[in-house]
Amino acid sequence: MRLTPVLLAGAAALSLSIAAQAAPIIVKVSHVVAEGTPKGQASLKFKELAEKKLPGKVQVQVFPSSQLFGDAKEMEALLLGDVQIVAPSLSKFSRYTKKLQLFDLPFLFDDIAAVDRFQHSPDGKALLESMKSKGIKGLAYWHNGMKQLSSDKDRLKRPEDVKGLKYRIQASDVLEAQFRAVGANPQKMAFSEVYQALQTGVVDGQENTWSNIYTQKFYEVQKTIAETNHGVIDYMVITNAKWWDGLPADVRQGLAEAMDEATKFGNDLAGELNARDRKRIADAGKAKIQPLSKDDVAAWRKAMAPVWKKFESDIGKDLIEAAQKANR
Ligand code: LMR
Repeated sequence: MRLTPVLLAGAAALSLSIAAQAAPIIVKVSHVVAEGTPKGQASLKFKELAEKKLPGKVQVQVFPSSQLFGDAKEMEALLLGDVQIVAPSLSKFSRYTKKLQLFDLPFLFDDIAAVDRFQHSPDGKALLESMKSKGIKGLAYWHNGMKQLSSDKDRLKRPEDVKGLKYRIQASDVLEAQFRAVGANPQKMAFSEVYQALQTGVVDGQENTWSNIYTQKFYEVQKTIAETNHGVIDYMVITNAKWWDGLPADVRQGLAEAMDEATKFGNDLAGELNARDRKRIADAGKAKIQPLSKDDVAAWRKAMAPVWKKFESDIGKDLIEAAQKANR
């Protein structure tokens, strides 16, 4: 048979489409927490939805528990194109923008509902674009929950109880100032190293959500967890802007839809998972959960209050005021 131009063109188109089918776009998603957490569950939902919406066109690979990249490397890896989506806690962005330090101000938000209202406000949405000049695009905010404070001491009720204690913190200058304000010694440390540091006494305590305290087993190596709700751990899901903008339009659209739906799913689930893990910790009977009176909470709030002024110019007074309006 003679190969006419038409046949040749047909064959070329066929082989192209086979090639397209044979090589889905790989989307690597990396995070540092366990699969049973809000972020772990939202990541898996994103994979499920993206692959359903874009059959054969994308393959989403989710790497939990710092398996692919830990705290120190995940954002660099994103910029180098070694991973396509990461969701660091909002405390870990200060190398790229000072604005997100907002979320670390102690006692800024009353609860996750207030955090959610702010994130959906025009100011909150604008922050998703605050790292554009660095090549980072924010796709969504994911919730974890409010932070609790733990230590390896029997007594943890008032700010003076942490005086002189060593506290693991995320890589955030605001959190550093927060612990200094109550006379503790903060130490920045990657999430994957916290359990061992608590176990061996390298640090005496840490702050985190119930879901992280449970899934990382911190409650097994801490004596008291005070129910302070003094701050928030939430995430910004980010991607490499150049990679995202270079995707075929239908793929970008499908991924954006999958992200929106996974965000709703994970954010609706977050409260439930934290409540479940709080109960599991209580039932395990290893660490005591210390409830705080209104007076105790007021004392923590007062002791940590000077932190706000210190970071006001970096963050912006207007932004702080906008966030405060989300409390009702
Ligand atoms: C931490 O480092 O304590 C958290 O940011 C971990 C996480 O991603 O929830």
